[in-house]
Amino acid sequence: MTIENVLHENRRIAPPADFAASVKWTKEAYLREYRRSLEEPDAFWSDVANELTWFTPWTRVLDWQAPHARWFVDATTNVAYNALDRHLAAKGDLTAIVWEGEDGVVTRTTYRELHAQVCRFANALSSIGVSKGDRVTIYMPLVTEAIVAMLACARLGAIHSVVFGGFSSSALSERIKDAGAKVLVTADGGLRRGSAVSLKASADTALQNASSIEKVVVLKRLGTDVAMQEGRDVWWHDLVEGQPSEHQAVPVDSEHPLFILYTSGSTGKPKGVLHTTGGYMVGAYLTMGAVFEPKDSDLFWCTADIGWVTGHSYVAYGPLLNGASIFLYEGAPNHPDMGRFWQMIERHNVTILYTAPTAIRSFMRAGDEFPNAYDLSSLRLLGTVGEPINPEAWMWYYKTIGKERCPVVDTWWQTETGTIMLTTLPGAFDAKPGSAGLPMFGVAPDIVTADGQPLGPDEGGFLILQRPWPSMLRTVYGDDERYKKTYWGELPGMYFAGDGARRDADGYVTVVGRIDDVLNVSGHRLGTMEVESALVAHPAVAEAAVVGRPDEVKGEAIVAFVTLQAGATCTDDDLRRHVAREIGAIARPDEIRFAEALPKTRSGKIMRRLLRQIASGQETSGDTSTLEDASVLDKLRRSPGVTGN
Ligand code: WTA
Repeated sequence: MTIENVLHENRRIAPPADFAASVKWTKEAYLREYRRSLEEPDAFWSDVANELTWFTPWTRVLDWQAPHARWFVDATTNVAYNALDRHLAAKGDLTAIVWEGEDGVVTRTTYRELHAQVCRFANALSSIGVSKGDRVTIYMPLVTEAIVAMLACARLGAIHSVVFGGFSSSALSERIKDAGAKVLVTADGGLRRGSAVSLKASADTALQNASSIEKVVVLKRLGTDVAMQEGRDVWWHDLVEGQPSEHQAVPVDSEHPLFILYTSGSTGKPKGVLHTTGGYMVGAYLTMGAVFEPKDSDLFWCTADIGWVTGHSYVAYGPLLNGASIFLYEGAPNHPDMGRFWQMIERHNVTILYTAPTAIRSFMRAGDEFPNAYDLSSLRLLGTVGEPINPEAWMWYYKTIGKERCPVVDTWWQTETGTIMLTTLPGAFDAKPGSAGLPMFGVAPDIVTADGQPLGPDEGGFLILQRPWPSMLRTVYGDDERYKKTYWGELPGMYFAGDGARRDADGYVTVVGRIDDVLNVSGHRLGTMEVESALVAHPAVAEAAVVGRPDEVKGEAIVAFVTLQAGATCTDDDLRRHVAREIGAIARPDEIRFAEALPKTRSGKIMRRLLRQIASGQETSGDTSTLEDASVLDKLRRSPGVTGN
């Protein structure tokens, strides 16, 4: 096994000795269990699953009818039961959630209280007709009640679909329709950079053409005036009033859907990634425990919003399944200034911080005076996720935030994988800045050529996973063909991640970035086609092509090349606002370049490779012989947008 040869590499950071001495997952333990997870997977996964509560045992660990997997076959369980009830006897008084609003308000909820809140809300949802299998869309600010809503759905066997609160009404409406959701849970608003985000108003617009919704539950977060539609809308506090704080968690099949989460792919339509109960639960439980080893004395802060998979697995499910205490912050990292994160770490004694490279880079750029003004000595472990981290940002995180006391774990995974797939366990191995590193238990990664041939050390290729794992997506909701084609159809028998990567002689995998038309902007996945369809929906736009340009802080910036309809006029600001309205502020192009025409092949395909080169100011290179009209390139290079900066 290559990972056993711990060899030479120039920059490697050893775990601090006292940290290494404190962990359960030592190098020996990892090597032993990793090997067992591949050689005796049934025994390995049974042992992990047996640490959780099941109402009926499984008859088989895995039924793999490629590419469809069933894990813990025939078993029944409930994720909310495992995340809450299981801890009550020993940890009822332990803090489950410390929440801080952007306005500085703090609430604390113990496991016992969270359990009661979830039970009450589950009873409330059931009183408005939600039952097993129904879809519930959650469109909320980052507040404790958002987690309550997720767990209440899980308790009932209802399938939640959380939509990021920063998404626009049309993005929300599209997701509600695709899921056929019956109930929407939202709030009057949330705070972002000192202003109210009016979620309810946006939800009302979304519901004008999403007719599956029968009831809307509205949490009063801000106390702002909102329109309540008679018969459809009901206040959260009215609905839970008088509901019992006991509720029997509904036993569901291991393969019963737990949630749908929409993510961008290379077509215009986001994919509803479907995760199911047993396997996802086991994966979230195991990876959270192995990578972060939370103890009762820890306060774990994953800075993701629950609208993303990181928020599902490491804000909500992973930590709660492990009985950990979590910190939750509603607002923007730069409000009122770039010291906000560090101030909260000091104030609440956060011990583990898990955030995204884009945040780290923007803090790094803001200056060391912000973190240096606060006492960060409570921290003991740092993590990163969502995009490649450049070694410079890694070192800054390690030194300025972790003071060289805290290991940094770089974790690679995807909405589709459900949980962490690659990471170098913090107390077990040296970290190599910029490289996610070694596989998690049961994960068999490889780097292959376009036709599936394995590549040697340090050769760049496609990242694939060779076997199914418990927390893998089961399908794309309502579109199994797309599931088969996208993930298992590129290279037969292998899960195709859509990322480019290389692996060194020690077995450390470095993920370089997407190889498809998916952008990673500030750690958020966005399809170029999604932004393009938003642009062409504007009446003045004839054609649009969107590409990424490397960006120091955001990872990638969005550059849109646009041709206008004959005689039409509009400004780049008009289009930026339009895209923000259509999708959400995260999709707002950084740069719009108006062009007379776009470079196309003779068959009419836009040559994005050339546009990417132009957008990043490089010379266009490579084969241009298929270009239909070569003069287009000259014009694009000469157009004011191109030479102007
Ligand atoms: C990228 C987020 C390099 C990758 C959990 C992947 C990373 C996509 C890393 C998934 C990492 C995530 N190093 N790249 N540590 N983590 N990525 O679905 O391109 O929002 O395919 O899941 O983010 O993004 P998603």
